[in-house]
Amino acid sequence: MSVTVTINGQAVSVPDGATLLDACRSEKIDTPTLCYLENLTPVNACRVCVVEVEGSRTLVPACSRTAEEGMVVQTETDRVKHSRKMVLEFLASSVDLSTADSTLSGWMETYGADPSRYGPAAPPTGDRDQRHAGHHSAASGEVTETVAQPAKIDNGLYMRDYSKCILCYKCVEACGEDAQNTFAIAVAGRGFDARISTEFDVGLTDSACVFCGNCIGVCPTGALMFRSEYELRQAGVWDEDEQNVTRTVCSYCGVGCNLELHTQDNRIVKVTSPMDHSVTDGHLCIKGRFGYEYVQNLDDDLATTPIDVVLRGVREK
Ligand code: SF4
Ligand code: SF4
Ligand code: FES
Repeated sequence: MSVTVTINGQAVSVPDGATLLDACRSEKIDTPTLCYLENLTPVNACRVCVVEVEGSRTLVPACSRTAEEGMVVQTETDRVKHSRKMVLEFLASSVDLSTADSTLSGWMETYGADPSRYGPAAPPTGDRDQRHAGHHSAASGEVTETVAQPAKIDNGLYMRDYSKCILCYKCVEACGEDAQNTFAIAVAGRGFDARISTEFDVGLTDSACVFCGNCIGVCPTGALMFRSEYELRQAGVWDEDEQNVTRTVCSYCGVGCNLELHTQDNRIVKVTSPMDHSVTDGHLCIKGRFGYEYVQNLDDDLATTPIDVVLRGVREK
């Protein structure tokens, strides 16, 4: 069964159950998304994908709205473009997007988003985890409040920098019902104070986290990052142009998860999982994601030297 909708004046047929985003993508209509990912249930958190549907009072999120027979959809109206621009501007004015997926900066350009028009960033307050819902003071209007805060580094496998968090909920979904079913993280607080947190804001090692890293795999901004990548970036030697990605099968058990080994200067620097693999759908467990040091065949000195120091040495030779 298929349904036919009209998008920007063109009839488009999609399978029954497909979303408006599926229909737009089938016609190669560029539709920005931030909180949507093929392997997660749509949460409608970001609203950057909105389109206009005839007869609907409000704009409609394309990522979750099922296409219905006879729907008339517009994706390029001033209202749609203005809404997308505002979403991107508000996010970019308050969040550090320096390590976000490069498609995001492309959309900023497409929609003319100019976060600088809200003024300079306010100094970081550093107290976001202690805020109580509803306790706000009036804004001065001269500076832009941001989510800037110190990075959380409490274990050897991955770090969290919520200055880069756009609150897309993807990590919460991946930790919860969509993949891991661990529920170690959730959204705490309300409004601008909303943030991703462990229970009672404890460190990851004291939380329910099992260090599968599935939250890192879905994070679109680099707020969640391998410690190896973080250390290499801090040392100024992280270089994606010099990296290779090799697809292989995890050797730890018989499930057959596919791995993508990211290597730089012949060292594995991080491990991801392909989205198009039916066994894992982009997800892994702690062994596949982080248990790779044993394949590096390093001598004792190298095995105990931090990776950023090793790669810096290689580069300087
Ligand atoms: S590493 Fe896994 S268990 Fe821990 S917070 Fe992320 S998704 Fe949840
Ligand atoms: S940490 Fe990353 S995945 Fe989680 S809500 Fe923030 S931006 Fe989204
Ligand atoms: S991508 Fe559709 S609401 Fe975020």
